Amino acid sequence: MSVEVRPAVLADVPLLADLTARSFDESLHPYLTVAQAGAARFLALVVTHPHLHPGRELLVAVSEEAVVGYADLRTSPKGDAFLSYLCVVEEARGRGVATALLDAFRAERSHRSLALDVFTSNGPANALYDRLGFGRGPLSTWVTRPLPAAASVPAPVEAFATQHATQEAYGFSQFRTGDLPVAGGMRAPSTFGRIGETVLKCLTLADFDDDDVLAALRASFPTTTEAFVIVADDSRPASPHRVVVTSERRTLDTRQDATRTRRHGSAA
Ligand SMILES: CC(C)(COP(=O)(O)OP(=O)(O)OC[C@H]1O[C@@H](n2cnc3c(N)ncnc32)[C@H](O)[C@@H]1OP(=O)(O)O)[C@@H](O)C(=O)NCCC(=O)NCCS
Repeated sequence: MSVEVRPAVLADVPLLADLTARSFDESLHPYLTVAQAGAARFLALVVTHPHLHPGRELLVAVSEEAVVGYADLRTSPKGDAFLSYLCVVEEARGRGVATALLDAFRAERSHRSLALDVFTSNGPANALYDRLGFGRGPLSTWVTRPLPAAASVPAPVEAFATQHATQEAYGFSQFRTGDLPVAGGMRAPSTFGRIGETVLKCLTLADFDDDDVLAALRASFPTTTEAFVIVADDSRPASPHRVVVTSERRTLDTRQDATRTRRHGSAA
């Protein structure tokens, strides 16, 4: 399949957002910012304000004038790259589109490493990364629990109007609380996220396990029903919870890769 790789333009964005959401099982959609209504609006900001997203690249693969896949990448100032999303339309899979996207990214720039997180259950993606020489580990686990009943005193939310507007526009948001009411006193502020109507994202296991804090936040956001956190695989919440999925960090050391390629004399 002949594929051309180019940077994404604004007209590509609705298709890219749709393709990303469709690439994940529906059971995962509540926990994914990219599956929320408004995700395309957020992605459009990357294309329209590239100077505010330094190191971020959205590359699309085009075949016979149709977009057949894309890669969302970001590179740190030190040269470590991270692949956030790599999706190919179903009809074009198994024909080298993802490989062409990664080859184009790696051919044009020099990186120290290229990392990504992939679900351990994703056979086709893991086979691709195995073939390209990505190393394995560590693991992370996505866990969820029902929120306790709403407390009588809601948690204070900093810059609430801005948080609310962001949530309305993109379907997800991040916010900082004020001091948190807990049994017998107050607790220091913390940061949380909202994904869609129902999910309250915790950034720490301590927050995920704190019934008082979760009850206060449920009072602040009455449509939320479950707490969600991503934890290192060797730690688990103390509270009853459900494992949603496990992902693995896979990393390609592109410097070693470049050395190996040169030694074998097969650089393109
Ligand atoms: C994972 C995913 C991106 C792979 O995309 P793809 O375009 O099918 O990948 P490629 O075609 O480059 O490689 C896939 C296989 O096709 C084979 N292939 C490559 N070029 C080929 C060609 N011209 N003809 C036939 N087969 C080919 C490759 O050998 C590869 O096999 P292997 O990796 O099993 O050994 C795609 O399945 C997808 O979009 N999945 C849903 C989203 C997703 O899971 N993304 C990854 C999240 S981390």
